[in-house]
Amino acid sequence: MAEEGLFHEVVGLVPQQKCEDGVLFPVVLSPNLKLAKTVKLTEAIKATRSWLDSILHRSGAILFRGFDISSASDFNEVVESSGYEDFSYGVGGAGSRTKVVGRVYTANEAPPDQNIPFHHEMSHAPVFPSKLFFFCEVEPGSGGETCIALSHVIYEKMKQKHPKFVAEMEEKGLVYSRVLGEESDPSSPVGRSWKDTFMTDNKTIAEERAAKLGMKLEWMEGAVRVIIGPKPGFKYDELRNRKIWFNGVVGGLKDKLNDDPSKAVMFSDGKPMPTDVPSDCSKIFDEECIALQWRKGDVLLLDNLAVLHSRRPLITLPRRVLASFCK
Ligand code: FE2
Repeated sequence: MAEEGLFHEVVGLVPQQKCEDGVLFPVVLSPNLKLAKTVKLTEAIKATRSWLDSILHRSGAILFRGFDISSASDFNEVVESSGYEDFSYGVGGAGSRTKVVGRVYTANEAPPDQNIPFHHEMSHAPVFPSKLFFFCEVEPGSGGETCIALSHVIYEKMKQKHPKFVAEMEEKGLVYSRVLGEESDPSSPVGRSWKDTFMTDNKTIAEERAAKLGMKLEWMEGAVRVIIGPKPGFKYDELRNRKIWFNGVVGGLKDKLNDDPSKAVMFSDGKPMPTDVPSDCSKIFDEECIALQWRKGDVLLLDNLAVLHSRRPLITLPRRVLASFCK
């Protein structure tokens, strides 16, 4: 177990994997009570920023547990103490979020009984946050785990399982399509209306904003089809010299307006993906992921390039997890 400043690394508190260089995924840091009676997370972060950066770079995920963080404004201070610049969550995100305070938003307000599939935050957008903070304000009774997976591992496993598909995806790229309604649908995990998504009720302004995000809009009766892409199905993580699974192959969520998930993701030439690809990919995620059971006050820091995240359905209400995104 390592110690750095006011942090004490804990092993075995949550499920962990060992990465190639021996670092754990995720790293779990608690207050080092040998050094001080109480440890403020903000102070501990400020004093060890470059060490935390190197840990995040190597592991991809840091869970801070055991600190006295109880409110959204406490969490906002933690985010500020990191020194990371704010990435304001605004135009173009698929999930419904509400600003709570400062740089803090609700996590996706999708219905609690639904699974939110693995994704890199805003991977469909031309710019996306590089780091994500999550905070558990209200601990779930059961279910509602946030699952995390190392993206380069998923890429390698998918390449082993479906080499032809991965080669075709790399050659052609993928196109995503999603229908957005006029009004937000709170029963859907991707139910943000086009007016909320593009923050306007003017169709021309919506088109301009969509174009800036690399999206095309096809207007329909009371709705709009948003077409994203072609986009490469992978990304090269230049900081770590490896390919990552940066796509929405398993993201085809069903709702009233999007009843055929096979249409949600296609090759750029309109050819559908092989039907077994999304289910095999989900299986690989299940095998490779770490399911984190939230404890009140937990703060999770993710590198959005190295790590994909998902949310399991919530069995016992309530659960309140807040989020903040950094550039
Ligand atoms: Fe997310």
